[in-house]
Amino acid sequence: MREHPSSRVDFRSDTVTQPTAAMREAMANASVGDDVLGDDPTVLALQDRVAALFGKEAALFVASGTMANAIALRTHTSPGDEIVCDRTAHIYRYEGGGYAALCGASVALVNGEHGLMTPDQVRAAIRKAEGSGGHYPNGQLVCVENTANLGGGTWYSVQALDAIAAVARELGCATHMDGARIFNASVASGVDVARLCEGYDSVSICFSKGLGAPVGSVLVGSKSFIQQAHRWRKMFGGGWRQAGLLAAACLHALDHHVERLGEDHRRAQQVAEALNRLEQFSVDLSTVQSNMVYVDCRAPANEVLSTLAAHGIDVLDTGAHRFRIVCHLHITDEDVNRLIDVCRTQWPVDA
Ligand SMILES: Cc1ncc(COP(=O)(O)O)c(C=O)c1O
Repeated sequence: MREHPSSRVDFRSDTVTQPTAAMREAMANASVGDDVLGDDPTVLALQDRVAALFGKEAALFVASGTMANAIALRTHTSPGDEIVCDRTAHIYRYEGGGYAALCGASVALVNGEHGLMTPDQVRAAIRKAEGSGGHYPNGQLVCVENTANLGGGTWYSVQALDAIAAVARELGCATHMDGARIFNASVASGVDVARLCEGYDSVSICFSKGLGAPVGSVLVGSKSFIQQAHRWRKMFGGGWRQAGLLAAACLHALDHHVERLGEDHRRAQQVAEALNRLEQFSVDLSTVQSNMVYVDCRAPANEVLSTLAAHGIDVLDTGAHRFRIVCHLHITDEDVNRLIDVCRTQWPVDA
């Protein structure tokens, strides 16, 4: 599907997608109310549907993935608590230090492999205030990211997720899943989202990434968790009014943009294998498990970016010799072939 108002091919992120004509029509036709007063029917329909889909009691529609995570962290923790996550986790790297500023929490970082922690690593990272003579912060929350963005779009097996949740429970910690790309994890692993999230107290789900909605994330959890989350959303300035316009885009995405994620994964694999054959580039193929490809390059990444940009192709630099390619709703087979052809022509030597 193209439906993108440009002849450039944008591989920087799956957040660049624009609402399709059909999605815009669904938005235009949405019934709306005042969500702060709790009577926007489309928001209510989205929340009910997502809660049921994820096997949780309740859901809350919010503006962004960062807001969903921030509300979840704040709801689960109190100042002086500690959050366990991988060292590459989005909540640690890219959310403005919200865990510190908004929650007053510290973070215990785990050195996972490609963004994925093991149950033993999680166990070793949890420090409890009780019994420490007042020395330790209170390990209160374990947070997994699935798929793991900086890990390469890697995903956890359901067994690993269950085992991490069991360790957290045993040691008195709550569990949160940053499921910004949980549907990618589900399509890639063939395990349905409710099962993946079974052991987790809360899950944040983004609709503005691979699912192609313009705005919006949903946080799911128990009724009492979502009641508290609702209060934090208000305090964070996230109470909104006729949000049904946006919820309609998310409902449309659930109907039309979930199954197709497999196409993004297939294209990412094709790009990864083709670039890895060229001497200029190398890709750790074991990490290419969903819609992302992190590419190491011999030349400085900014030079590679300029060359590709001159051919109408945009990618994202993520290091001095590293860049990222993401396949999404607007990327076609033709776009993938165009990228591969440009790379073969510009850097023709085989590895
Ligand atoms: C894993 C992960 N979590 C959360 C977010 C935050 O989403 P948003 O940009 O909507 O705040 C992102 C954004 O890319 C992400 O990759």
